[in-house]
Amino acid sequence: MTRILGISGSLRRASYNSALLRTAQGMMPEGSTLIEGSIADIPLYNADEEQAHGLPPAVETLKSQIEDADGLLLFSPEYNNSIPGVFKNAIDWTSRPAGDISRVFGAKPVAVLGASPGGFGTILAQDSWLSVLRTLGTRSWWSGRLMVARAANVFDDEGRLTDKQIRQRLETFLAGFVAFAATPRD
Ligand code: FNR
Repeated sequence: MTRILGISGSLRRASYNSALLRTAQGMMPEGSTLIEGSIADIPLYNADEEQAHGLPPAVETLKSQIEDADGLLLFSPEYNNSIPGVFKNAIDWTSRPAGDISRVFGAKPVAVLGASPGGFGTILAQDSWLSVLRTLGTRSWWSGRLMVARAANVFDDEGRLTDKQIRQRLETFLAGFVAFAATPRD
């Protein structure tokens, strides 16, 4: 079984990115599963807090989930043409202490996708992740792209992805990424 961890970078109850993650859970390729990780209880990073108390429990949980997963999918919203602070903050916490980065993120298959009500579907946020993922030493997958634009038109009020074409593109994206994540490392 190929175990993929998905993280939505939004805390919003009706988040399109969380809805995309939950849709993806229902269309994973055979022999794979998508577990939902959460950034909900992660505080703002503070080096003094880290020094005094170590990592908060929500960070420890997410960090172990990342380490244990065969691959990581980041469902990233876009704020001001970049990564939302809450999402970057969560990943920054999981990169502490720096000595753990290679164990947690090193050569980890990672892909980014996202949804936005705008016309460009998080393209600039996805590009912004590139430098973060390179710094963490991940084995990022850029062979597929999924930018869900005009999200209000492709999800219904219950967060169901109703657009057939986007559903198909999501399925193709997931199949490509899972095949990549399941490939043994050299
Ligand atoms: C946004 N939004 C937004 N959308 C986009 O496509 N490009 C952008 O640069 C921005 N910038 C931006 C800044 C801030 C501060 C907010 C709060 C919002 C809109 C954003 O895509 C929208 O709120 C989505 O619904 C966020 O994703 P979730 O919460 O639906 O997953």
